Amino acid sequence: MKFTAQTLGLLAGLQSALVSGKPCGPHRPHWKTLAPIPINPRQEHTTLALNTTHLAILGGIVPTPTPSLYATTPLLQLYNTLTNTWHPTPLPPLPVPLNHPNAAAVAGRIYLLGGLDDEGADGIWRGTGRSWVYDFDSQGWSELPELPGVARGSAAVGVDEATGRVYLAGGMTQLPLVEGAGIQESVDVVSVFDTRAGEWVAEGAVAPLPGRRDHAGVVVVDGVMYVLGGRDQGQLNVRGEVFALDFGRVEEGWVTKEGRMPTARGGVCAGAVGGKVYVFGGEGNPVEGSEGVFDQVEAYDTKTDTWEKLGKMEVPRHGTYAAALGGGVYIPGGGIKLGGAPVDTFNVYYP
Ligand SMILES: *[C@@H]1O[C@H](CO)[C@@H](O)[C@H](O)[C@H]1NC(C)=O
Repeated sequence: MKFTAQTLGLLAGLQSALVSGKPCGPHRPHWKTLAPIPINPRQEHTTLALNTTHLAILGGIVPTPTPSLYATTPLLQLYNTLTNTWHPTPLPPLPVPLNHPNAAAVAGRIYLLGGLDDEGADGIWRGTGRSWVYDFDSQGWSELPELPGVARGSAAVGVDEATGRVYLAGGMTQLPLVEGAGIQESVDVVSVFDTRAGEWVAEGAVAPLPGRRDHAGVVVVDGVMYVLGGRDQGQLNVRGEVFALDFGRVEEGWVTKEGRMPTARGGVCAGAVGGKVYVFGGEGNPVEGSEGVFDQVEAYDTKTDTWEKLGKMEVPRHGTYAAALGGGVYIPGGGIKLGGAPVDTFNVYYP
């Protein structure tokens, strides 16, 4: 049997249904509140489903003693979906603190393929292409070849399970934190890391995205990578297209789907359950009283290329990252206002 994210999800769902003794029958969509993120609230991190039971969150920004100032964290934390508990201590931290890290879980390892670092004293987070792999057996990070192309964070990351290749689609090369320090530089570049060969595939092997994107939603369903919404040079420049790449026909490049998000949004998070993609929240909402945050939950059916509106997030957020596991979409942390406003809120959506 080939283990895809979907089959893993189904197995975990069965397992948790057995553990909890709950019937497996149909139920209404609902939210469930989970154990909050320990140590620090978190935003602009990445969330990964490691196997049928465990999630990891890595990197991101955390509050500092000065309100309105945030620090980039190297934290790597593990969560058990069966027991609703976080591992009592963080795992060995990322080799450097990164926000908007590009990361993927492949064959039980965590690949960290660049992100934005917090070094500049000029108030600009800049992309780095430095890359590492974390091995759970040796509990250590090893450095990988540096991304040869455009260094960036906030790429849409998808894994081709058949080849062990990790695709980084788009992203941003810099995020100025102060007024007038420059633009949020979005890119359309696509880079590929081959986890089996341990090296980057030659730049340009895969066509660029049909448009520049960062802060997009991303999922892989049945060997097709979907990049949903996102933005182009700034929080308010939200986008609603869906770009798709069939891993079996990579040479054909990206297709812009007919179905557009009912609400164009960036800073969203997404997870797929049973062929449907759920896209949550986002940043850049111009509506008064929204705090600049979107509360929408909308679902994309990959088979019919159509969208459906599904009400509001229980706690509207942006700048988080979802992972689908066991029939639910887990959403740890995120920001509750435009810009930095990290929370430790953690919940799961069962469609
Ligand atoms: C999932 O991964 C975690 C972290 O490595 C590990 O502790 C756990 O035993 C794994 N579970 C399964 C079912 O493989």
